[in-house]
Amino acid sequence: MSKRIGILTGGGDAPGLNAVIRAVVLTAGNCYGWEVVGILQGFDGLYHGLPVVPLIETSVRELLARGGTVLGAANRGSPFAHPIQRPDGTIEYEDVSHEAINRMTDLGLDALIVAGGDGTMSIAHKLVRMGARIVGVPKTIDNDLGSTDVTFGFDTAIHTATESLDKLQTTAESHHRVMVLEVMGRDSGWIALHAGVAGGADAILIPEIPFNIDVVCNKIRQIQSAGRHHSLVVVSEGAASIGGKQEFYIKESSQSGARLGGIGHIVGNLLAECVGAEVRVTVLGHVQRGGSPTPHDRWLATQFGSEAVHLVAQEKWGYMVALQGTEMTAITMEDAVKMKFVDPQGQAIRMARDLGIVFG
Ligand code: F6P
Repeated sequence: MSKRIGILTGGGDAPGLNAVIRAVVLTAGNCYGWEVVGILQGFDGLYHGLPVVPLIETSVRELLARGGTVLGAANRGSPFAHPIQRPDGTIEYEDVSHEAINRMTDLGLDALIVAGGDGTMSIAHKLVRMGARIVGVPKTIDNDLGSTDVTFGFDTAIHTATESLDKLQTTAESHHRVMVLEVMGRDSGWIALHAGVAGGADAILIPEIPFNIDVVCNKIRQIQSAGRHHSLVVVSEGAASIGGKQEFYIKESSQSGARLGGIGHIVGNLLAECVGAEVRVTVLGHVQRGGSPTPHDRWLATQFGSEAVHLVAQEKWGYMVALQGTEMTAITMEDAVKMKFVDPQGQAIRMARDLGIVFG
């Protein structure tokens, strides 16, 4: 039976989103003869009634290697809490979820595929409970979505972060400096841990292990006494000292949620006081989210996008595709929104400690 399916990309962008769009269009067309339309600007575009974009083989031909998302994405805004500015300037939040549901009907959508992180999956899950036919695709550079071993975007992010450490290493060596690199990851330390190990860091500070700066200072002094006069420290944006609080460089406002960042400079200043060497800080920021996806992320995004179409065929509403081991599987969005953190007692941290890396 012929179907019309929609696709939207929600939350922050991630390398591989365009590869998902391409895989959805190709699989839907080749395997089922279905039509695909793209919804612009995530859920915002759905309930605001933005025009939809017909997606065919020729429109997705160039998408595999392209970063970002050609459909656009909104990193805030939910049909369950749509901000309305009152005449007195105050903001109130309205539930306009019924408009999102009605729009899907008006557009004649038999199903919707949403690619996003935990925020997007929670919205999708609520819409499914209202009767919407939605399946999900996990996306985030943070790799913090539960029940899937990995999300696409993560590999590209750690590739960029590792490459940055390699570049910082050369200046560290030339100038006998301590180089601090702050990376993204929100409340999970996956990017910091993987890039830190791959880039030969001496200390890695992650949100899951509150740090004591003295431990990092001692490590650097030890390295200096052993005759090496440069070192690398990776700090996850969500890291905090024991008993300390996370740092935010953008405070909560009507325009934006609070955004983590700033801990790299704090760590840099603390180290400058105790190690007797020059310290420099680099904040990698959105560079980690940009650019062309790695081959691994293209492969994963393609697998996820293609499998999502098969989930639609099986009418698995409220499910998200996931990778478990080497198997593509489907899990409920309810499970998907559970976060995945680095286990401080786990094998990966143990291995890093065995290498001499300190976590504060
Ligand atoms: O979730 C992905 C992510 O890049 C986080 O690592 C980071 O904290 C956040 O998004 C930044 O969001 P924004 O693009 O809104 O600044």
